[in-house]
This record gives sequence, structure tokens and C-alpha cells, in this order.
Amino acid sequence: MSGNVFALKCDKCHKDDKSLNKIFQERQVKTKQELFDKLRKGQKAKLHQHLTDKDINEAAEQMKLR
Ligand code: HEC
Repeated sequence: MSGNVFALKCDKCHKDDKSLNKIFQERQVKTKQELFDKLRKGQKAKLHQHLTDKDINEAAEQMKLR
């Protein structure tokens, strides 16, 4: 399963128009820290409350965030 971002929990909701590629670009998510800040403290934190740190770290790695 790991090794493919589209096998991550994110893809359940993030596909097509809302793919992570697009969202990261639009929202200027460039670092792992920014991703954590958005998902834990941002306006959309509630939507992401079920994600574990591991899920987010894996996504960051797949998306090649610093
Ligand atoms: C339960 C559905 C769901 C899951 C699972 C989910 N997201 Fe989201 N996410 C959303 C929705 C809905 C939005 C709002 C999209 C918009 O604003 O157009 C969003 C927004 C975002 C944003 C932008 C946040 C902001 O403040 O602008 C990021 C970054 C993001 N998601 C990353 C992720 C990552 C990474 C994962 C997997 C580790 C993930 N999401 C899993 C539903 C989900």
C-alpha cells in the first residue's frame, strides 16, 4: 500500500478536481510543516481529524514535501 499516495486515506476524498496535486498547488503547501498546520489547525481541520500523524507523514513523503 505504501509507495502510492493514491492508496492513502487522502484519496477517498481527494480525486479529480480535488486531487492532492491540485490542492497543494492552489493552497501553496510546500513543506510538511505547512501540511500539518493546515490539517491540524486550518479551516479544514475538522475534515481531517481522523487522519493520524502517520497518514499525514506518508502523504507528505509521497508528495515530496520538504
Ligand atoms: C473525509 C474526506 C477527506 C479526507 C480523508 C482527506 N481530506 Fe483533505 N480535504 C477534504 C475537503 C472536503 C477539503 C476542502 C477542499 C476545498 O476547500 O476545496 C480538503 C482540503 C485539504 C487541504 C487544503 C486545506 C486548506 O486549509 O486549504 C489539504 C492540504 C488537504 N485536504 C490534504 C489532505 C491530505 C494530505 C489527506 C490525507 C492524509 C487528506 N486531505 C484527507 C476532505 C478530505
